[in-house]
Amino acid sequence: MLDPSPNLSPEPADILIDGARYAARPGEPLIAALNRAQVTVPQVCYHAQLGPIQTCDTCIVEVDGQLVRACGTPARAGMRVRTAVRAAQVAREEAFDRLLANHQLYCTVCDNNNGNCTVHNTTREMNVQHQYRPFQGKGLAVDASHPFYRYDPDQCILCGRCVEACQNLQVNETLSINWEAEQPRVLWDGGVPAGESSCVGCGHCVTVCPCNALMEKSMLGEAGFFTDQRGPLFGNAVAMVKNVEPSLGYGPIMNLSEIEAAGREGYIRRTKTVCTYCGVGCAFEVWTKDRHILKIEPTHGPANGVSTCIKGKFAWDHVGSPQRLTRPLIRENGAFREADWEEALALIARRLGALRAEHGPDALAFITSSKCTNEESFLMQKLARSVIGTNNVDNCSRYCQSPATMGLWRTVGYGGDSGNITDLERAGLVIGIGTNTAESHPVLATRVKRAQKLRGQKLIVADLREHEMARRADLFLRPNPGTDFVWLNAVSRYLLDQGLENRAFLDRWVSGLDAFRESLDAYTVEYAEAVTGLSGETLRRVAHEIAQADGVCIMWAMGVTQQMSGSETSTAISNLLLLTGNYMRPGAGSYPLRGHNNVQGASDMGSMPSHVTGYQRVDDPAVRAVYAAEWGVDLPTTAGLDNHQMIHAIHAGTLRGLYLKGEDISLVDANANYVDAALEKLEFLVVQEMFFSHTASFADVVLPASPSLEKDGTFTNTERRIQRLNQALPPLGDSRPDWQIIQGVANALGAGWSYAHPAEVMDEIARLTPLYAGVTYERLAGFASLQWPVQPDGTDTPLLFTDGFPFPDGRARLYPAEFIPRTEPPDAQYDLHLNNGRMLEHFHEGNMTFRTAGITAQVPGAFVEVSPDLACERGLTDGTLVRLVSRHGAVKLPALVTARVQGRQLYVPMNSPNAAQAVNRLTGSHTDPSTHTPAYKDTAVRLEVIGGTGDTPPLPRRNFRYGTPTPQRGVEVERKWARPDYVFPGLGLGLLQGGSLNARTDRVGVPLQPSRMNMPSKSGVADD
Ligand code: SF4
Ligand code: SF4
Ligand code: SF4
Ligand code: FES
Repeated sequence: MLDPSPNLSPEPADILIDGARYAARPGEPLIAALNRAQVTVPQVCYHAQLGPIQTCDTCIVEVDGQLVRACGTPARAGMRVRTAVRAAQVAREEAFDRLLANHQLYCTVCDNNNGNCTVHNTTREMNVQHQYRPFQGKGLAVDASHPFYRYDPDQCILCGRCVEACQNLQVNETLSINWEAEQPRVLWDGGVPAGESSCVGCGHCVTVCPCNALMEKSMLGEAGFFTDQRGPLFGNAVAMVKNVEPSLGYGPIMNLSEIEAAGREGYIRRTKTVCTYCGVGCAFEVWTKDRHILKIEPTHGPANGVSTCIKGKFAWDHVGSPQRLTRPLIRENGAFREADWEEALALIARRLGALRAEHGPDALAFITSSKCTNEESFLMQKLARSVIGTNNVDNCSRYCQSPATMGLWRTVGYGGDSGNITDLERAGLVIGIGTNTAESHPVLATRVKRAQKLRGQKLIVADLREHEMARRADLFLRPNPGTDFVWLNAVSRYLLDQGLENRAFLDRWVSGLDAFRESLDAYTVEYAEAVTGLSGETLRRVAHEIAQADGVCIMWAMGVTQQMSGSETSTAISNLLLLTGNYMRPGAGSYPLRGHNNVQGASDMGSMPSHVTGYQRVDDPAVRAVYAAEWGVDLPTTAGLDNHQMIHAIHAGTLRGLYLKGEDISLVDANANYVDAALEKLEFLVVQEMFFSHTASFADVVLPASPSLEKDGTFTNTERRIQRLNQALPPLGDSRPDWQIIQGVANALGAGWSYAHPAEVMDEIARLTPLYAGVTYERLAGFASLQWPVQPDGTDTPLLFTDGFPFPDGRARLYPAEFIPRTEPPDAQYDLHLNNGRMLEHFHEGNMTFRTAGITAQVPGAFVEVSPDLACERGLTDGTLVRLVSRHGAVKLPALVTARVQGRQLYVPMNSPNAAQAVNRLTGSHTDPSTHTPAYKDTAVRLEVIGGTGDTPPLPRRNFRYGTPTPQRGVEVERKWARPDYVFPGLGLGLLQGGSLNARTDRVGVPLQPSRMNMPSKSGVADD
């Protein structure tokens, strides 16, 4: 989880709190030490993951005779803290009274009255009975323009948590407070409606808001017993509360609202789950009321803390979509009809059994889904291997991650992130290559952006497009497409030539330097300049930045792996890290960012043709013997077909039946037209899906599966972190969790499986898989997680390679890799380079995210990004319809003119609600030779202008990309303190005089003046 102050001294020091001795970390906020000591002090604006922002003044204590804010005061050895002195109490009470003047307490009819409202709980804990400053509306309209949340200025206490989260945690820099205004408020892009701003909808601001000023729209009118009242009814309810307050005080009102809040527990379920979208693996609770998803509440996820992106926070409408499949479908006479499970399973068993009997087990193949759980992927490959008898099983890591894994296997032995996401923050230098991190791994990107903004971490980005990370980079490289391998090797060679390698690390931990050095012979700076288009000066600067950095992490993704050179470039990255000693410590190492939520796990689980679980080889007799003992059958002995080979085998007539779950292969595999033609040739196709996907249209049987919220299981994220998801909702209709469906198919084929719960599957995985040996559901309870390798006693491995590398000699290997140039460089006929990838709002092809209306409103469909130069040359404007034609197919798309792309390069997002517009109609079947990962990024096209008015921009103008962020240092509370009407609480004329419009003081620590502390204590704490 995020540590807001990662550079603190770990050595504790003694401090005195109310006369007792406690340990503190020098430099940490005093409030953190008070909280650890369980000394209760109010703290409305303080949030441990945001750090001190000092806006609310409710945490005032006395330190060495001075009144100070406990959150803004660093702990230091020997400090004497008194929390219960009258002066501090008075100050805190006055501070909170000022907040309440900005906030109407109508808890009983408030959707935020769920036991976790900071303003409510502080009112209770401070035993507030009356407000001295009456609530005054601000006269500002509610902003409901954003599709997913609304801002109510009247309820806003101006704590600035949202601003801090937006500026310095999400680092989108949309929010600010106009402290100098007569009536300050939260502003989006300096004062536009939220829904027309640069807001990326991450929801950080809503999550950290301590009251109901920022609320998820899905909560409004839904959470409370009485909260669906609006208009006059609502006003009457609030007025009633206000009318009784002067006579009764807040006590009875608080009691009533807490009874109401407790009553909500009868119908609001809070279930811990893990995000279903990307490989960051954000964990959070989902709040549900029957099938209504009230909200996603992140609190302390091990990978994400309070963070989410727009998808994890808001894109869940697919779960309740009326388009969900709820009954099995069987193709009959060219059309689908509904069937019951018994009939569907019997048909599958009959057809698969017949194909196996007639053509042998290798006439069948299985594709698992990296959206499904580990347990489900395990069962899919078990079905293939133990029931059918084939190693023809694969998953979609073939489409993206296999080359990264190959590069790491060759060099360091484990195919996973070296450390965790928090470690990234500690690096002196982060390099992103071929990764649009802010859109594809949004929460992980926030940690890099934050470290760069607040700690001066250096960021180098190499990519074709000028996306957000590129714009933020200290150095942005735009090499020619497919040439990362060349510049990486030139940097390695230059480092060696200059003697800038880490010789001590190499001598102790690395083999193969001589052969590696020889492999670099051709990679002079001059050669790299010619091939990559980067200047020699740039390359030398990169080399020196790496050599000088205190820890280098390299992140890479599909821009590297989906190339002919994918495995080779991944190897070059790891070689460079080894050469410079950037392994075996936090804040250094390789981060092959995994795309799907469980793409790491799908491979860990042996859904691969050459490996069973934990990357144990199927051609190893010792491995097969362990499996034979567990399963009671002999495993097939040689590697099976991977996804790519399966398609060729279907065309060749040797593969006749396919069982595929959760993979829209006809859109996401390269050369989609060729894939479609293969699917049409299959004798029998089973598709297990939530929706009637394009691939499902080719099926003989379609089985309705459940989304993540409807099942139990585990996911393994990009950090190798295994986390539990718990069933929040029952399966919709007759749909079933995938593990139950696979078990049903296996048993229809006579397997006799009897798993009652995925926990039993995990026990079996642990028995068979050294990497998962110590994984149990008990050890993963709640928000607990484990990072593999996990020893039998449950000891896990947040940081890989602490005592060597997993090779027999314990040494890593520099691997001489070989450059493989592009297959399809632009030529006279196909003159443009086509790039493609993800967008923030959608996930992959968009089968799930297009079901959420608020997402679709932001990005309704596919388009092609065209550079201003090319647009000018071809006469294109936003919305002009063009046809892109490659050697493999053609698509029609509207143009979007943007400087994110340059020159004669195009970009098409991979998400499309229309199968005819899928970018993979254009990509080809050429692959990285080592892994058969398609070279999606190696495609040449020509552009034909169809025309059209361009009236409708492909991206609505309210899309965040058109916004104008307002970067600032954070909340900038100093501007509040500089207001003429601001006075440090407790030192002015006090509560009874009302208002905060007292004499100005902008000092944080002010000497005590006991003669002025004449307020009666309201909290019952003894004066001293
Ligand atoms: S980007 Fe938008 S949702 Fe995210 S913190 Fe900023 S204002 Fe809130
Ligand atoms: S909207 Fe922002 S400033 Fe207002 S109360 Fe919520 S977090 Fe604080
Ligand atoms: S999509 Fe990724 S970054 Fe976004 S909430 Fe889900 S796991 Fe986190
Ligand atoms: S918690 Fe310290 S000023 Fe708000």
